[in-house]
Amino acid sequence: MALPTDYWARIDPESVPNVVTETLPGPRSDEMNQRGMAHMVGYSGQVRLFPVVFDSGHGVTLTDVDGNTYIDFSSGIYVTTLGHCHPKISEAVADAARTLMNCHDFNTPVKVELLEQLARVQPWDLTGMQLYDSGTTAVEAGLRVCRAATGKHEFISCFMDFHGKTGHAVSLGKMNPSNGTGRSQGFYLVPRPSPYRPMFTTAEGQIDTDAYLDFYDEFIDVATTGEVAAFVLEPVQGWAGSVMPPDDFFPKLRSFCDERDILLMADEVLTSMGRTGKYFAMEHWDTAPDVVTVGKGFGNGFPVTAMMVSDKHKESINKISASTSYGGNPMACAAALASLQVMEDEGLLDHAMALGDLFMDRMRSLKQDHPIVGDVRGLGCLLGIELVKDRDTKEPFEDAGRLVYQRAFEKGLAWVPAGHILRMSPPIVMQEEVAHRGMDIIEESIAEVERELGYAG
Ligand SMILES: Cc1ncc(COP(=O)(O)O)c(C=O)c1O
Repeated sequence: MALPTDYWARIDPESVPNVVTETLPGPRSDEMNQRGMAHMVGYSGQVRLFPVVFDSGHGVTLTDVDGNTYIDFSSGIYVTTLGHCHPKISEAVADAARTLMNCHDFNTPVKVELLEQLARVQPWDLTGMQLYDSGTTAVEAGLRVCRAATGKHEFISCFMDFHGKTGHAVSLGKMNPSNGTGRSQGFYLVPRPSPYRPMFTTAEGQIDTDAYLDFYDEFIDVATTGEVAAFVLEPVQGWAGSVMPPDDFFPKLRSFCDERDILLMADEVLTSMGRTGKYFAMEHWDTAPDVVTVGKGFGNGFPVTAMMVSDKHKESINKISASTSYGGNPMACAAALASLQVMEDEGLLDHAMALGDLFMDRMRSLKQDHPIVGDVRGLGCLLGIELVKDRDTKEPFEDAGRLVYQRAFEKGLAWVPAGHILRMSPPIVMQEEVAHRGMDIIEESIAEVERELGYAG
């Protein structure tokens, strides 16, 4: 479905990217970075590998302080799904900021409307909700609800899942020595089926979902005390590099959990609200979770997140002292409500799916033409390109990942690195011609890096 000819985010595709300085990042970026980095420490790899200073954003473009304009394939970090400064969302936030900024967790008209709309767009029975201001706080609340609802305390999550950076959210992910002395007690990780790098396969070499579930069964028996409150998973792994599950994974995991009285918590902070062409990614596998977390694109840039709980367990929210200082403030609710309305009124879920087809076509031909491209994958506008040194051994090609990321950025494409995996999360308000221009830049950059590293075929 094409965007209307007068759509607010439409631009002349020939006008982007527009690099006006001799080098990127330009001199003003350099100067400002020196000042900022004298104080702020701990930037992400996305910034460290390309320290540009952005000044403004409009729709699918970003402009830096030197006047260079980039095509945005990052949406910040999967956040501005509906484009930078969507006029209706900006107006709704400004209006709320002029009217009422905070009144703790009292209901307000805009909050009530948001809760009702969120209940309407979810396809299951997730009618219990709380609102938060970051993904990781929503995840923490979800864990506490799972404990309150089951009376059990242990959690199982998956290798390479990412769920946030606060105490227990950290324990659901890959450990890092600076996270503390180790994983919190009662948190366990298991491998999850990754179609490109399967750990368990059938005799015919196909990924074997049942073998993973057999492993989980034994794992629970041997490694836990049998007090598992929930399986906590990302529907599609974002940080790990847009890793898709096999189609039978979530339906089978749902039955597995039901048979053992374990809740299924889907962390949809990254995948929900249009990113994959649905409100919730779990809809792709027709699998109803018991607890869901929502974030990033929910407020299209305004920090607002949600935890949603099934009807059966919603009263458990009362047991966790769930409210916070900022959760559900009127500006946040206005941003989320306007985002939901825009997505529906502008038919953007369908557009995200159509864009996803375009990207997958382009990425499949990239794989055909470029030996270092080992795997390409996507769901709607959540996409990944995995670079390898050798297609048979699948050895990760970290240097190529870094170089392609930087080379494409130098040509005017803002996007997201993940080691040897290039991650793309363009705003879903992108017109097709601009999507093609971004893909042209990626293709050119891969070709250049291949030549440089001696892989030109
Ligand atoms: C799946 C998932 N859960 C939780 C988080 C944490 O969200 P936040 O950075 O808003 O705390 C992230 C952030 O990247 C995420 O991708």
